[in-house]
Amino acid sequence: MAENKTVTDCIVFPLDLPTVAEAAGYVRQLSGRVGMFKIGLELFIAGGGQIIEIIRECGDSAIFLDLKLHDIPATVGRAMERIAAWDGVAFATVHCGESPAMLKAAVSASSGRVGVLGVTVLTSVSGNDLQNAGFDPVYADNPGALVMKRAQMARDAGCAGVVCSGRESAAIKAEFGKNFITMVPGIRPDWSAGKEDQKRVVTPAAAVQSGADYLVIGRPIRDAKDPGKAAEQIAAEIRAAAGGGIG
Ligand code: C5P
Repeated sequence: MAENKTVTDCIVFPLDLPTVAEAAGYVRQLSGRVGMFKIGLELFIAGGGQIIEIIRECGDSAIFLDLKLHDIPATVGRAMERIAAWDGVAFATVHCGESPAMLKAAVSASSGRVGVLGVTVLTSVSGNDLQNAGFDPVYADNPGALVMKRAQMARDAGCAGVVCSGRESAAIKAEFGKNFITMVPGIRPDWSAGKEDQKRVVTPAAAVQSGADYLVIGRPIRDAKDPGKAAEQIAAEIRAAAGGGIG
């Protein structure tokens, strides 16, 4: 975790909502209580860039455009140019895929205005899926090896970091250094209700202790009776886990 960041800065809330109006309600409640809002495909397809303007009007939260681009390098580069033309988009995602050319095109088109994060292996993909897709048994037996290979590809292409599970963050930091950003979804505080569809979950404390820079925390906040209070409780847990190392 970068030394100049506060605990609140580390919390990323995904606006996984079907309409701009519903998303705007969460932005108003959570601005100042989380550091970044993540806009995914659902909301972006529903409302385009409207939500970016709303987030900026509500405060100085960072914006993460999680569109997980995957296309020929020229097309990804052109899409990234449009993303970089928006003010205030801190991060955007691109799949690591089969070749580094797509990542390199994204990094070049970002013009240093957007941090490109590589999506290594989706946490919904199993070793069995990799085997059926024709991957080498080295990866089918150990998907974590493919995560590391793709993190290397992302690093070599000039990406700012990767999206990975909390269980992979420590190894990625050890291999690629503390400045290579890890954005970690699949966070579940001990008190949150069901573990739903996320398989490789970790607590906020464990994620911070593994060196994660940003924690994507959706349903434990979104579905809480008081989302603002839930975000504050998570911040307190992170603060305790960091042992006073961050503000
Ligand atoms: O905390 P919660 O499970 O509700 O967060 C879900 C968010 O995390 C979604 O926006 C999803 O896109 C994102 N995500 C994920 N697993 C990944 C990458 C991103 O759940 N491997």
